Amino acid sequence: MKLRRKVTALAMASMMVFSMAACGGDSAQETTAAETKADAATEAAKETAAQAEASGGAGGNIGVCIYKFDDAFMTTYRNALQEILEGKGYTVTFMDGKNDQAEQNNQINNFIAQGVDALIINPVMTSAADQIIATVKDADIPTVLINREPTADQMSAYEKLVYVGCDARQSGTMQGELILDTANKGDINGDGKVSYIMIQGDPENVDAQYRTEFSVKALTDAGMEVEELDLQRGDWDRNKGQEIAQNDLAKFGNDIEVIFCNNDDMAIGALQAIQAAGRKVNEDIYLVGVDALDAALNEVVNGNMTGTVLNDANGQAQGAVEAMEALLGGKTYAAGEQSIYVDYVKVTPENAADFQ
Ligand code: BGC
Repeated sequence: MKLRRKVTALAMASMMVFSMAACGGDSAQETTAAETKADAATEAAKETAAQAEASGGAGGNIGVCIYKFDDAFMTTYRNALQEILEGKGYTVTFMDGKNDQAEQNNQINNFIAQGVDALIINPVMTSAADQIIATVKDADIPTVLINREPTADQMSAYEKLVYVGCDARQSGTMQGELILDTANKGDINGDGKVSYIMIQGDPENVDAQYRTEFSVKALTDAGMEVEELDLQRGDWDRNKGQEIAQNDLAKFGNDIEVIFCNNDDMAIGALQAIQAAGRKVNEDIYLVGVDALDAALNEVVNGNMTGTVLNDANGQAQGAVEAMEALLGGKTYAAGEQSIYVDYVKVTPENAADFQ
């Protein structure tokens, strides 16, 4: 717990530096225009806050759209957001997108019609980012996107928009490093190559794409030969992780030396299949995930997972609220400066207890 706080504090500090860099305008004229706008917006934000206070209420109405409530990691994230926002006196409404972009579009439109002061959106489809950004821009609502990162180009359409998340490449690299840190660097049978299966999240999501690519890249960059026995989408889902691992273990047997899962929930599912097949993690197979869910931390401590990577839900929630408040205070973000990242942290049996 202590370490998690420290990490978060570090992340906050780096975010502040990042945000300050984002303040700079390209020319004096632009800066003046931006400042005038910012001043006006600050005044408006002050007025909103004063009105809220006058009505005996909190610091404003915030609409939060989550891609689906039924996602293990996003549940932790949602709880963290709720605690922070309510703790600061905001009135918050959370909507469940139920993994349906049309449903989420309606929810965004409803929030706008209700006149929320700011939106925090975890898009259902990254490919819907253009439409989401156009909608919030049209309504002039300060918006923080979380967890599913659009491109810098897409975000540049609206200066009152920020993305807060992590750089998924980092988590993939750390997964590869967890395997490289084992006694035989993942080559359990000593045949000169690491044979793995990859259980992917929703491939539409950049987190799934990068984790898939960079976990293997860490191995090849270290000079290891690799063999991909299978790659399948498990859509971040525990049951799908279990099914894929079960089928592959039946098909490839002892040839599988490593199971890479793009997240912990799928890894927990894969672990059930590994145990049912009579295999033993860290002895005849390695298993890694991402997120550091409580269940995964327990398995890392018990030696049933080789490791995981902390996806800092608390740090990201704090970052999202901070960015939202900056927007409410009138801050605008220049193109190319709209992504704010929180660091991932490698989790092994040695440090897992620090995150529990
Ligand atoms: C997390 C997954 C989660 C996904 C949702 C990822 O960053 O690692 O656990 O399902 O976000 O978009």
